[in-house]
Amino acid sequence: MKRQRWLLDSEWRFHKGDIALPVPKWQGDTYQWCKTGNQQGVPHAAFDDNAWRVVDLPHDWAVEGPIDQENNLANGFLPKGVAWYRRRFRLDETDADAGYYLEFDGIFRNATVWLNGHRLGAEPGGYISFRFDVSDVINREGTNTLAVRVDASEFEGWWYEGAGIYRHVWLVTVPGVHVAPWGVYVAPSFARGDLSKSVVNLETTVSNRGREPVMADIVSTLLDPKGKPVVAVRSRQRLTAETDAVVRQKAPVRSPRLWSLEQPTLYTVQTEIRLNGKQADSVETRFGFRHIRFDADQGFFLNHEPVKLQGTCNHQDHAGVGIAVPDAIQEYRIRKLKEIGCNAFRCAHNPPAPELLDACDRLGMLVMDETRRMESTTDGLQQLGAMILRDRNHPSIILWSMGNEEPLQSQPEGARIVRSMIRHARRLDATRPFTFAMSGGWGKEFSAELEVQGCNYGIVNIDQYHADHPRHPMVMSENSASVFTRGIYETDQARGLESAYDVNSPKWWNTTTETVWKTIAERPFMSGSFTWTGFDYRGEPQPCEWPCISSHFGILDTCGFSKDIAAYYRSWWGTRPVLHVFPHWNWAGREGQPVSVWCYSNCEEVELQLNGRVLGRQAVPRWGHVEWSVPYEPGTLTATGFRRGKAVMQSVRETTGVPVSVHLIPDRPVIRGDGEDVVMVRVEVMDERGRLVPTADNRIEFTAKGPGCIIGVGNGNPICHEPDVATGRSAFGGLCAVFVRAGRGEGTLTVEASSMGLAGGAASIRVVHRRPRAFLPAVPMDTPQAG
Ligand code: GAL
Repeated sequence: MKRQRWLLDSEWRFHKGDIALPVPKWQGDTYQWCKTGNQQGVPHAAFDDNAWRVVDLPHDWAVEGPIDQENNLANGFLPKGVAWYRRRFRLDETDADAGYYLEFDGIFRNATVWLNGHRLGAEPGGYISFRFDVSDVINREGTNTLAVRVDASEFEGWWYEGAGIYRHVWLVTVPGVHVAPWGVYVAPSFARGDLSKSVVNLETTVSNRGREPVMADIVSTLLDPKGKPVVAVRSRQRLTAETDAVVRQKAPVRSPRLWSLEQPTLYTVQTEIRLNGKQADSVETRFGFRHIRFDADQGFFLNHEPVKLQGTCNHQDHAGVGIAVPDAIQEYRIRKLKEIGCNAFRCAHNPPAPELLDACDRLGMLVMDETRRMESTTDGLQQLGAMILRDRNHPSIILWSMGNEEPLQSQPEGARIVRSMIRHARRLDATRPFTFAMSGGWGKEFSAELEVQGCNYGIVNIDQYHADHPRHPMVMSENSASVFTRGIYETDQARGLESAYDVNSPKWWNTTTETVWKTIAERPFMSGSFTWTGFDYRGEPQPCEWPCISSHFGILDTCGFSKDIAAYYRSWWGTRPVLHVFPHWNWAGREGQPVSVWCYSNCEEVELQLNGRVLGRQAVPRWGHVEWSVPYEPGTLTATGFRRGKAVMQSVRETTGVPVSVHLIPDRPVIRGDGEDVVMVRVEVMDERGRLVPTADNRIEFTAKGPGCIIGVGNGNPICHEPDVATGRSAFGGLCAVFVRAGRGEGTLTVEASSMGLAGGAASIRVVHRRPRAFLPAVPMDTPQAG
């Protein structure tokens, strides 16, 4: 049989709330129900789930609401609790040697899984990928019943964690002799740092499920980005019956094309197992050639070039979908971060979805991958090991983080734990340095365990640390934590809104974004900094409280819409000329009163005019901004950027008219009709001259016609309690978003928007034919027989 990876995402039966497993009432049942494969109740094949809702994965039931002050603040006041999922699928396989792995990329959390009444096991961790070998209990020729109980009642973090099977589920069928799961490790090295001479170290774990030993050829072929073979290495190996063997190979590659931020070139290794000259199994693994180095004096180097890490920390949820982030939105988020000049992503504070790392590999984004728990328990090491084994081939990953801000970080006990963790992890990958995001205790024995000192905040202490530990490379693993609400220019904490000027930094532990970045940029020894955060996320409304439900730390809001501060980062992180003047210029009723006008720009000078009158020209300080106090009068505020005395660009704010129409802008004109792709539609409320009305909050209703359906909406407003899983939303600051998933098929997908009193808008997206990924359809329950 051939290896196949079936997606099991579609049409799960879902029941919110617990259903207790039945308790036997007489001795016969007590005896029988304890037997293997005879679990009664929901996991049993005969259980009737016809009345349950049908949902597709990825799925987050928490985001469905309702928002309620009684719910946990950390979870954005959304409910969690317990729920059940069930799915039936058929197989038609006659090969008795075939192996079957059931893979879960991530369930939040505490999942117990049954197949055909067999309890497969449980995974308490909400962020880790896990699998079961189900070869013994799967029905190879017939119907299988999968049941998953998810208990999201407890929390693992202090942010929005969601609830449900929120990442993909797969059934992998393999031949008797096969490459083990996560069984290919590709680690290119460069002799003496010479980038023109690489040796690719390959470690392949091969499983022989059969009862006989076999001689196998393991052939690893490296393919260039176009799929052309570069080099192949072959090893002959005797595989003992019913065991795994590790095969080590080295493949020399001359002058490989390097993976870089600008050109993230990816190669592939094709691993083949051949028995008697015939291919038995084959898997493909993506990897890249890149050289990384952290230097205590000069910071981080990629391929020997200095690269300042312009990083952001991010949780995993997004507007409209919660933690159930479709692959297309993962990619969208990375693209949005790249647009502001971000080149590094910290997975705060847990391993991400595999597709996020794929997007980072493809688009050129460096990654700090972080395990959730600082634990050297069996469970903790298992989660850490799973992260490393799953993720170690991604060229984007440059740091393994062993945790974040643990009180034990300054204790000998903490140092012992981290030492055990690193010892365990280094056996699985020694090609990247280990770090820890420490908010204190720097320099104590805990730090001695880390190849790179991770510093959270504490920016006033970094010079001293560097002076005291001149040989220890450093990175600001977390920084800034300034708060901003998009389009709001007056802080009103009682309502839950923070001004978008860079003035609301958490003063007791940090300073403004501007001061932070200037400090980092001026210090070559500091490898870079990860801003808290790239995107807003639900939960952590601090310093606000209810009715505020989401954080304000993002450079981008929960939808990915830019706050003004994004222009600051574009100015100093990016390479293109930037000029951005704010706030908006709709201040009716404030005529004559002073308004603070700021400009972010990397031009040398900026001149400001109001209604044609020059208000002054100022030199832009490096890593800073310019500002004026301007008595308000309606009209046009114009900023002009100068370089070498020449006007090079303008940024304009005009007092707009009232809302008259809705305008839709899809993030891409063409999407794939594979049943998974998602288009993000930006919705703008316009005045009669086609200008965005920055104060508009009109309610907008959406419909989708053609091959696709609406999966969620959002507006980035941290105090909006309207549901995200819906087909309508109010605008906030003139904007909202609707997320539409493609069906399987092709044609024109039309998204229409209507709003009372406004002219409606529409956008057409072309859905092109794309074969869906191989999937096993869900099989409905047999209709229960009457009587
Ligand atoms: C940090 C912490 C983050 C987040 C942030 C909020 O100390 O690591 O997870 O809570 O504070 O400012």
